[in-house]
Parts: sequence; C-alpha cells; structure tokens
Amino acid sequence: MKKLFPIFQNNPGLVYLDSAASTQKPRLVIEGVADFLAHDYANIHRGFYSLSERSENLYHQSKTLLADLINCEAKEIIYSYNASYCFNLLAQALINSKKIQKGDAILLGIREHHSDIVSRQMLAQNFGFEIRWIKLTETYDIDRDDFTTQYDEKVKLVAVSQISNVTGQITNITAIKKRLRDDTFFIVDGSQSVPHIPVDVKQIDCDALIMTAHKMFAETGLGMLYLKHQRIKQLNPLILGWWTIKDVSCETFSLQGNSDKREAGTPNIVGAVSLLKALEFIQSIGGMEAIKKHEESLVKLCNQEFIKRKEKVKIFWTLTDTQRVGVYSFEINGKSFNKVAENFAEENICVRGGGHCAYPLHKFLNANGSVRISLSVYNDETDIHKFFEVVDQLSQ
Ligand code: ALA
Repeated sequence: MKKLFPIFQNNPGLVYLDSAASTQKPRLVIEGVADFLAHDYANIHRGFYSLSERSENLYHQSKTLLADLINCEAKEIIYSYNASYCFNLLAQALINSKKIQKGDAILLGIREHHSDIVSRQMLAQNFGFEIRWIKLTETYDIDRDDFTTQYDEKVKLVAVSQISNVTGQITNITAIKKRLRDDTFFIVDGSQSVPHIPVDVKQIDCDALIMTAHKMFAETGLGMLYLKHQRIKQLNPLILGWWTIKDVSCETFSLQGNSDKREAGTPNIVGAVSLLKALEFIQSIGGMEAIKKHEESLVKLCNQEFIKRKEKVKIFWTLTDTQRVGVYSFEINGKSFNKVAENFAEENICVRGGGHCAYPLHKFLNANGSVRISLSVYNDETDIHKFFEVVDQLSQ
C-alpha cells in the first residue's frame, strides 16, 4: 500500500501515525489533480464552453461519489472550506432561520472537537441560549441516563461526534437519534468516522453530518456538509454570491429556489476533483469495508502491544477490539506530551502531541494533553512494531 503513496518513497523510513490530523495523498489523487489542471480546468456554473462543462461535470461527480459513500443524494451535499467552516456556517444558519432562539437549549458531548463546541458557545453568548453538557460514563461513553435527564422540551439541537478524535471510540449515534423528538436538529461530526468506517446517513437519520476531505486522502481546503433535503429547505443560505442568487437589482435581490444552490462564489473546484480522485482511490482498494478490515487487524495488534505495557503507558480509553478505530491517545510514565512527540519525531515517527482540539475532554481526563497515534490504510505491522520499540525506549 505504501507504494501507492509517493510521500513514502520521498521520505524513506517514514512512519506516519498522524492520519487523524490529515492523511497522506495517494498518487492517484496527486496525478489526477495535475491531470485535471493540465487538461480540463475552468470555472464552473457559468461557462458555455466545453472546458467549463468538463470541469463542472467532475465537480458534480465528486458529490455523486460522496453521496454514494454515505448513502444520500448529491443535492444534499454542500461544499465549504473545511469542517470548522461547516460547523460555523450551520450554527449560524440555524440562528438565522430561527431554528434556535433565545431561551432554547443545545446538548453537546464534552468530548466534542473545539470546532463543534466553540461555534455554539459564541452563538450561545450572543443569542442567549443555553449549552448543556452531556456527561460521560467511566468508560467515556455518552451517559444515556444523563442524556435523558437533560433532554427536555427546551433542547432544540444535539451535536455529537460519531468517533472521538482523541479516544477512537465509536459512539452508537443511532441509539441517540432514537431518543430525539422531530423538533430537535441532530448534527453528527463525521470527520473521523467517514475516513475509517462505512457511514450511512439514512440509517443514522441525522439532519446534518460534517466531513473534511483532507482526512480522507484528498487536498486541504474542502469541508463537506451533508444536510437532509427537508432541512436544506428550512435553512436560509448564510453566504450569498453567484449560484445562490436568482436576480439582483439596485433595490434588492432574490435567492435561487433550488436547495442545491447553496455555495456562493467560485467553489474549491480543484479540491472537489481531488476528493473525486480520493473516492475513486477508496473504491480501487475495496471500499470502506476493506479499509475497516485492514484497520481492525492493526487495532488488534496495537491492543495486544499496549496491554503488554499497561504499567508504563496510560491509555485514554479501553483497549477493546470492537467499537473503536485506530486512534489512541496516551501518556508514557507521566512524561510531557511535547517531549514524547519530539522523541518520536527524532526516530522518523510522526505522532501528535497536545490537546487534539478537545480540551474539555482532556480536562475530564485530568490531563493537559496527550500523545496520539492514528492509523490509515498505508500503515502496516512494521510501523506498529517500530512505534512500540520507541515506546519501550521512552518508558525505561
Ligand atoms: N482535528 C484534527 C485532529 O484531530 C486536526 O488532529
């Protein structure tokens, strides 16, 4: 698999264990983007010439493939700049369309990513609604009893991540959805789930799911928002410009009636083509089931190796073979996470050290931060063994 990713040929001996931050890019994406720029590139939605049509077709094909991946319709996908932009845009669209108003409450998990938390904190401060935090159980799962207690008629929005970017734990979000009334907007952060496991938005029955292309083999600069068709119609677009506008006069303007015209201005066409190529790459290696299977075997190995070292390495969550993906945050003998991450870097092993944009969760864990490894398709057993060799050196 490493042969399909030029970064490994260009950096011999590299062990890349930071894919939850961003994945490496396969040759198919790198060359596909270069090929597109060399042969088909033009602006879209406004050209009457063949280049523009080709470019536009590829842009929309990327939505069709993404829609197939998560089981929705292409018109339910809106592109933005990144996942944080999607969170912020959606939060503001909910306010703008009066789906959340003064006196309402929203329920958030304390293990959510900052982008999900902060966009709501800002609006809560400005618009006078309440944020309620769903407690975690001792095994860091969403506390269902606490959820039931806090979920009253004031709650208009519930937001949870399907997979934590710190613990790698998969949450049973379908079970959460089953408890919600129809007047509650349900947002799922799929940034870490869509690159790792098969995700079906129809089965989850969420109103919105947020993803980011750079964590699934495509370029940076493209966030993807799935918004259920009925919900798109209820929310006004927040950013206006060409493609969202039907008519403009000196006095006023009118919006496009079509709910799929929600992207203002020239979109990230090259990013969309890189996502198209990334989705073709995923198909070419057997799809999400194959990715999940590969990762499950590495998770088993990591669990066995971590268990052997449980006296010296503290893992932030359980070492179960199920309900998790290959994302592990840990502490070695109480050492500083920065220092440990640097020690790994000296051995050509890329890991992440810090709060991983999840400070409330780290506060719950009584930690300032942690060291994190996160796996992807190009990791193999050799990478895992090299990683544990350094763990052993550091824990002596
Ligand atoms: N959200 C990304 C991470 O978990 C950047 O590393």
